[in-house]
Amino acid sequence: MHKVAITGTGVFTPAEVISNDELVAAFNAYADLYNAENAAEIAAGRVEAKAHSSSDFIVAASGIQQRHVLDKAGVLDPKRMFPHFAERTDDQPSLMAEIGVKACQQALDMAGKTAADVDAVICAASNMERAYPAIAVEIQNLLRIKGFGFDMNVACSSATFGIQTATDMIKSGSIRSALVVNPEITSGHLEWRDRDCHFIFGDVATAVFLEREEDANAPYFRVKSTRCATEFSNNIRNNNGFLRRTRDQMDDRRDMQFMQNGRKVFKEVLPLVSAHIAGHLTDEGVQASDLKRLWLHQANKAMNDYIGKKVLGRDPEPGEQPNILQDYANTSSAGSIIAFSKNSNDLADKALGLICSFGAGYSVGSVIVERVI
Ligand code: COA
Repeated sequence: MHKVAITGTGVFTPAEVISNDELVAAFNAYADLYNAENAAEIAAGRVEAKAHSSSDFIVAASGIQQRHVLDKAGVLDPKRMFPHFAERTDDQPSLMAEIGVKACQQALDMAGKTAADVDAVICAASNMERAYPAIAVEIQNLLRIKGFGFDMNVACSSATFGIQTATDMIKSGSIRSALVVNPEITSGHLEWRDRDCHFIFGDVATAVFLEREEDANAPYFRVKSTRCATEFSNNIRNNNGFLRRTRDQMDDRRDMQFMQNGRKVFKEVLPLVSAHIAGHLTDEGVQASDLKRLWLHQANKAMNDYIGKKVLGRDPEPGEQPNILQDYANTSSAGSIIAFSKNSNDLADKALGLICSFGAGYSVGSVIVERVI
């Protein structure tokens, strides 16, 4: 069995930013337009008026202060409330491949490697912009990588499930290295007109380069152990798929975008994740007190505070459990990888840490890593 190392990470961050205040102003303008257009029906009690959103609520309920998006104008247009994504021809790179390549390139640069050193590409994300050919194969082609690529989707847990998949292939010897890339264009599957969730997502692409430890050029993280678990739930769901109805009819189908029962998710996922991490640590003989850092899925600050406290048995010290959701919002599978990428290089030799993602499925994935300098 080969030992596996994460030797590079990359984060592509879209340039455009939407603050809570900008988002709320657009939402409230949309709500006012809707209420004016439906004034008679609302007065007759046949249609429910849309209430205003609030920046204070968003910060208090989630900890999110802003989000990056690929197209700000479309999202903030009260008459549209959806990004403009120009249709691309088959000869142009897909949007997911385009941003995924940028994150992959950063991960390779950090590892001091080139495309010639990569044996496989796994594109692991919560939504794919087309059925096939796989986005991973397109990224493989754009980077001129030999070997193979495939897509996988485990919603918000896609990145950690992808890391386990790549790790197992490297361990067994079927490949020497892999890029696991997570282009998350969440703005395309969020209903920006739904007050309960219009604030939660942002766009980003992350990538992780994994290879045999003996091939590492620079300080790295040894993958000590991975664990994945799933348990069926309808509380986070998106029904959009190849059986969907036409675009016009979709306007009446709220279930064709991201849907969640946020309160239930909060309550049900917390015990699931805490027990998953505790079990993983126990089975690997790792004490919670040995963990120098937790890089958790970035959906909600209160949720992460709870998990951090449950895992460590005390309030995490500042920096022990870095959050990035105040700047990026929920970026689905990419969140824990952004936290890891931006808050890990300072760790000392032999320091242990845990990457953990969770979300729809339900799904939970955890990766125990050890710093090697
Ligand atoms: N602005 C102002 N008020 C709002 C609002 C908004 N944008 N959205 C909801 N509210 C109101 C609700 O109407 C409700 O009012 P009421 O008490 O009068 O009925 C109140 O605020 C509480 O709403 P609720 O939806 O219960 O809020 P919450 O505290 O559960 O927070 C989430 C909402 C989504 C932030 C939170 O449930 C969460 O993060 N859950 C976990 C989500 C998760 O991990 N999902 C995984 C996705 S990958």
